[in-house]
Amino acid sequence: MTVHFIGAGPGAPDLITLRGRDLIAASPVCLYAGSLVPQALLRHCPPGARIVDTAPLSLDEIAAEFVRAHDAGEDVARLHSGDLSIWSALGEQIARLEALGIPYTVTPGVPAFAAAAAALRQELTLPEIGQSLVLTRTPGRASAMPPRETLVSFAASGATLAVHLSIHALGRVVADLVPSYGEDCPVAVVYRASWPDERIVRGTLATIEAAIAADPIERTALILVGPVLGRPAAAASALYSADYQRRFRGRDSRAGADEDAAR
Ligand SMILES: C[S@@+](CC[C@H](N)C(=O)[O-])C[C@H]1O[C@@H](n2cnc3c(N)ncnc32)[C@H](O)[C@@H]1O
Repeated sequence: MTVHFIGAGPGAPDLITLRGRDLIAASPVCLYAGSLVPQALLRHCPPGARIVDTAPLSLDEIAAEFVRAHDAGEDVARLHSGDLSIWSALGEQIARLEALGIPYTVTPGVPAFAAAAAALRQELTLPEIGQSLVLTRTPGRASAMPPRETLVSFAASGATLAVHLSIHALGRVVADLVPSYGEDCPVAVVYRASWPDERIVRGTLATIEAAIAADPIERTALILVGPVLGRPAAAASALYSADYQRRFRGRDSRAGADEDAAR
């Protein structure tokens, strides 16, 4: 018996990996994390599967489900939205499973920031304009931030920011970012990327609050900030320049090409 943690993707039911889908189909128990995991994915569960929405459950109650399945010798598909590496509560569940001696696997999923970039139809890194992406959030009721992980400190880097779990605190986000990015810095808010009711609101740090107030968004949105969002005319990537082709593509790639060549 194994618990399979599966990244369920950002919302569209076909944005799950083949491995994730097949694990759901092979597991007689499915635990899924409430409204952010699309119900359509539950259609992959085998007939008669035990399907439990864990949104109202405590960690103890979720662990009790793991133990019940373990005692019955039944594999569990454990679905979380997006990918499991960010804000998925994977860590605390793994700690329980290790204490209980229950085996588990982890299958990645498409994270919300990637779905939001796809909705915007743009790259979040551009040559010479933005080469770093910070995935962050603001403090929540249940989650304080480590003291040095402030928006103000990330803003000082000028990197592209993907601010999660913070649309309700947009005013605070704007206030923290304006001093470093300036009021004209482009912003995109993407609501429920890849869901049928996906919505995109573009603006600048000066205008985005009014734009959202005109048609409020209260949850499940990403705030993307940084010069790349303005789709500036970026310098062309050196990767596809004729000179790069001559120097690296024609020769032994082991000698000269770095990981960029894998793109
Ligand atoms: C608990 S976190 C889960 C993140 C998830 N594990 C991932 O890989 O993206 C929930 C937050 O992710 C963002 N989010 C999740 N799904 C989203 C979507 N489809 N569109 C926009 N933002 C989304 C929102 O900021 C939301 O408040």
